[in-house]
Amino acid sequence: MCGIIGVTSSNNVQDYIIASLKRLEYRGYDSSGIATVSDKRLKFCKAEGKINNLIKKLKDNPLKGFNGIGHTRWATHGNVSEDNAHPHISGKVAIVHNGIIENFQEIKDKLSSKGRIFNSQTDSEVIAHLFDYEFSKNKSKKEATQNVLKVLKGAYAFVVLDLDDPNTLIAARNASPLAIGTGDKTNSVGSDAIALAGIAKQIIFLEDGDFAILNDKHINIFDLNGNSIKREVKPNSLDPAVISKGNYRHFMQKEIYEQPETISHTISEMYNSDGKISKNLSEIIGHNPKSITILAAGTSYYAGLIGKYWIESLAEIPVNVEIASEFRYRKPFIDPDGLIITISQSGESIDTLMAMRYAQASGIKSLSIINSIGSTIDRESDYSIFTRAGAEIAVASTKAFTAQLISLLSICLAFAERKQKNLKEIDTIKSKLFKIPGAVAKALSSESKIIDIASNIVKSKSCLYLGRGPLFPLALEGALKLKEVSYIHAEGFSAGEMKHGPIALIEEGLPVISLLANDYHSLKTVSNLREALARGAKLIIFADEGAENKIDFAHEILKLPFLHETITPIIASIPIQLLAYHTAVAKGTDVDQPKNLAKSVTVE
Ligand code: AGP
Repeated sequence: MCGIIGVTSSNNVQDYIIASLKRLEYRGYDSSGIATVSDKRLKFCKAEGKINNLIKKLKDNPLKGFNGIGHTRWATHGNVSEDNAHPHISGKVAIVHNGIIENFQEIKDKLSSKGRIFNSQTDSEVIAHLFDYEFSKNKSKKEATQNVLKVLKGAYAFVVLDLDDPNTLIAARNASPLAIGTGDKTNSVGSDAIALAGIAKQIIFLEDGDFAILNDKHINIFDLNGNSIKREVKPNSLDPAVISKGNYRHFMQKEIYEQPETISHTISEMYNSDGKISKNLSEIIGHNPKSITILAAGTSYYAGLIGKYWIESLAEIPVNVEIASEFRYRKPFIDPDGLIITISQSGESIDTLMAMRYAQASGIKSLSIINSIGSTIDRESDYSIFTRAGAEIAVASTKAFTAQLISLLSICLAFAERKQKNLKEIDTIKSKLFKIPGAVAKALSSESKIIDIASNIVKSKSCLYLGRGPLFPLALEGALKLKEVSYIHAEGFSAGEMKHGPIALIEEGLPVISLLANDYHSLKTVSNLREALARGAKLIIFADEGAENKIDFAHEILKLPFLHETITPIIASIPIQLLAYHTAVAKGTDVDQPKNLAKSVTVE
């Protein structure tokens, strides 16, 4: 998704803006640009491709000025080009925008009929023309903004720079995230806390319908009716040092390796040192729902599917897991005595947010499992549980995924205990919880073997992932990880489904990556693997300690530390993440920002 930054300061702003755009790279983009006001002129520079292309252009012609805006563009309307890159300029106005203006064509036609010339194919450019028109009628910033917001339909987060009043920025949001930052003689506005790290000491998240008018000394926030409103001011805990690769080659590798620590932090969010559940969690389970509906997208959806296996078998609560983008359009039944659980790393996925709002309209309570504190989904949920994975920069989600699993397992155990269900099993699993970070660290030590396996599959046209029970959703996640970072087609199946069709895909040398738990159906999976092997598959098995001796025919077998069959999906996440990462490295793809992908999908 696009990234936005605006800075108003008593110092030159170009370096602030460029540093922020580099921090915003993780959102995924295809071009970038910057605009400032200096010597009473609007100056701008845009470049296709990576930020470094923009930096190269600025080297010869740096932009001076104490007020400026910047943008990383993820194309929605119009191809990748400098003309379509932001900022968009109209007369004395420059704007940067994230979102989709649904009625842009109608607005564009109307403005064109009044003689306005458009330079891009984008929807965003209409915002620049609308403000330039309002200012040409000598409207105040506040009135101009209210008039423009009355016209726009759709999702927007934008920042406006005005040549005639360069010290002042206008910012507005609706359904796309936007935050204001306050600092020493420097105020700012950006897509998220990461954009504002290092610039802002405090952060104010705008709500849908808010707009703000700010300079380096004052910040005024208004609602759509022009009433002045107050929003919570929070410390911006994000430190630029957190957003660096350290000694790792990519953010994805760094974040895979952070998991022993992030899992340990997430466990301590759920349990006190005496093993008792946290106050927040005990409040949540007090709600005692008759059913649970999980709403999520992508990797977070697969975490939800694993959670379903755990909660239904151990807490004995019925769980429905929904693809968020499908949920609200199929007129679902919503159990008034139920609980909605939304799972989202960014807390800004529009599909998940809109599905949650749809469900909440029926009065049902909602809990969000969130990695981004202060995000929209966090702020709009009745309860929130924070995955302590820290800022996840790589587009491919890894440490947030295992942190989501820890949160779901903890919720499951807490509900089971409250309902007095399967208490012996629960105690056994709880006794192993604090051992998970160590087991994950041990699983990471298999990286060199994974590198060899990756070199064997990197030339494959396709790969299959198999699993049973809670390892079936993990097979789906493994296939997604490989697809999104290495661009190799992959599909995940329940091993029991092979004979119902997918086995027709098996041909000589086709890699079949199978997850094998030391549990009740491992022998059935072994017979599925023999069938695949008999048809030429190249078998790569990630097996629980104790299950590996059931397989003496695999091409590659990687033994995983075993704590408990319920915990296996968390540990087995490590080799599938490492395999996707190293296959992508071997392939030479843009591992942290894979083509066409965004870290947070904030447009439908
Ligand atoms: C995961 O690797 C992908 N980047 C993607 O599927 C992601 O999980 C999905 O877009 C949901 O994002 P969220 O967790 O921030 O809502």
